[in-house]
Amino acid sequence: MADKEEEDTRPMKDWILVQNSELRLEVQNDNSVDIQLLFGVAEIFGTEMAKNMRYTISNQAKIAIFTDISCTIRILGSPDIAYVSTDTPMHIYRNTHFALEHLRRTAQQNDTFGPKVMVCGPTDVGKSTLCRLLSNYAVRSGHQPILVDIDVGQSDISIPGSIGVLPIERPAGIEENEFLKPGSLVYHYGHNNPASNLKFYDTLVSKTFEMYQERCKENPTNKYSGCIINTCGWIDGSGYKCLLHCAKVYEVDAVLVLDHERLCIDFQRDLPKTTSIIRLPKSGGTVVRGREFRKNHRNNVVREYFYGKKGSLSLFPFSFEVPFSEVSVYKIGAPEVPESCLPIGATAEDGNTQLVPVEINKDLVNRIVSLSMATSLEENVVSCSSAGFLCITAVNTDAETITVLSPAPSPLPRKFLLLSDIEFVDFK
Ligand SMILES: Nc1ncnc2c1ncn2[C@@H]1O[C@H](COP(=O)(O)OP(=O)(O)O)[C@@H](O)[C@H]1O
Ligand SMILES: [Mg+2]
Repeated sequence: MADKEEEDTRPMKDWILVQNSELRLEVQNDNSVDIQLLFGVAEIFGTEMAKNMRYTISNQAKIAIFTDISCTIRILGSPDIAYVSTDTPMHIYRNTHFALEHLRRTAQQNDTFGPKVMVCGPTDVGKSTLCRLLSNYAVRSGHQPILVDIDVGQSDISIPGSIGVLPIERPAGIEENEFLKPGSLVYHYGHNNPASNLKFYDTLVSKTFEMYQERCKENPTNKYSGCIINTCGWIDGSGYKCLLHCAKVYEVDAVLVLDHERLCIDFQRDLPKTTSIIRLPKSGGTVVRGREFRKNHRNNVVREYFYGKKGSLSLFPFSFEVPFSEVSVYKIGAPEVPESCLPIGATAEDGNTQLVPVEINKDLVNRIVSLSMATSLEENVVSCSSAGFLCITAVNTDAETITVLSPAPSPLPRKFLLLSDIEFVDFK
């Protein structure tokens, strides 16, 4: 929130919102607007706006400013889309939160686990938004839920190709458009779709549950607050099986299904009767983003990981050379071999979670690698959390060095690099 008191010559418009309505705004690439709450009470996906504070909305944001009382919002600049809607499912989402609150209080009284909730539905129905909303409401009510993001395509916790676990201690920022990340645990998956390695994907989801339980043991507030699981939009065939696996591993108390009747019916058939399957309407404001947008968005998320938010110049990554001898590169998943060639007792699926050494050569240029926290191969490198991510920007086979883009300065704190499919071209 920069000091924006100086003369602003951009167009200005005040929007008066009646009770239970929302102002939906979209800003395209390279555009930005400032928003300000002049009167009343308003929130953006569960984060309250402070009165008179100017917030800059940029980075292709698509947001809704909701009021449950009434408010006046000033907009400076020209949003690409701006309209008010009174047709919003926010009261239904809020009631869902109140039901979860009740379960949290009961958990606290009885020293049991708070509600474990999984949010599902096709792409672009508002799953991430609902997870954010419920997390924000929970912290605003004094809880600290754990957000688990198993959407490897559009993770809200780390870069694409990863699965994350994040204890939420504060509401998400409005300008930053995300939660603060300290305390997060991130796991390398390496692909932006569960289909690329289903067995490994399921293994990591199970791992996040172990870590969730650990965290609950350490911190009763997390235990009573429960968890909110954000999932991929792949809901058919093997995608559905991944969702089932997650629901079963976590023994979720509720599955919130956005906008998909068949998915509700499938869950009702396949999950225990004790699991509540709740169908929720999608918001009319949810924006369908398309494949190309999602691809660009993934790239932007990686750029922001290294450089910070566009225009904010908040991060200064480092570029340095690392000798081949100081790192070992692996990928996870061996090429498939016929069953007849496997050792006795092994199945073809076992290979999917196998650590496979990768030769360092020019093919690794522009690839994202994660730096495993493991310090030796005796540790389970495959399901060890990540210390961070690097981008390999050059490979010099003569000098036997790689050049990496890194959020932290040299030297690397660990030596095992896990190769991902995710590419990033560092244009600066
Ligand atoms: N009520 C709303 N008004 C305006 N934009 C919204 C609203 N709800 C969601 N969006 C936007 O719609 C897009 C898709 O929502 P998202 O939660 O990311 O969907 P999903 O996770 O299901 O793919 C996001 O850019 C989000 O900011
Ligand atoms: Mg999402």
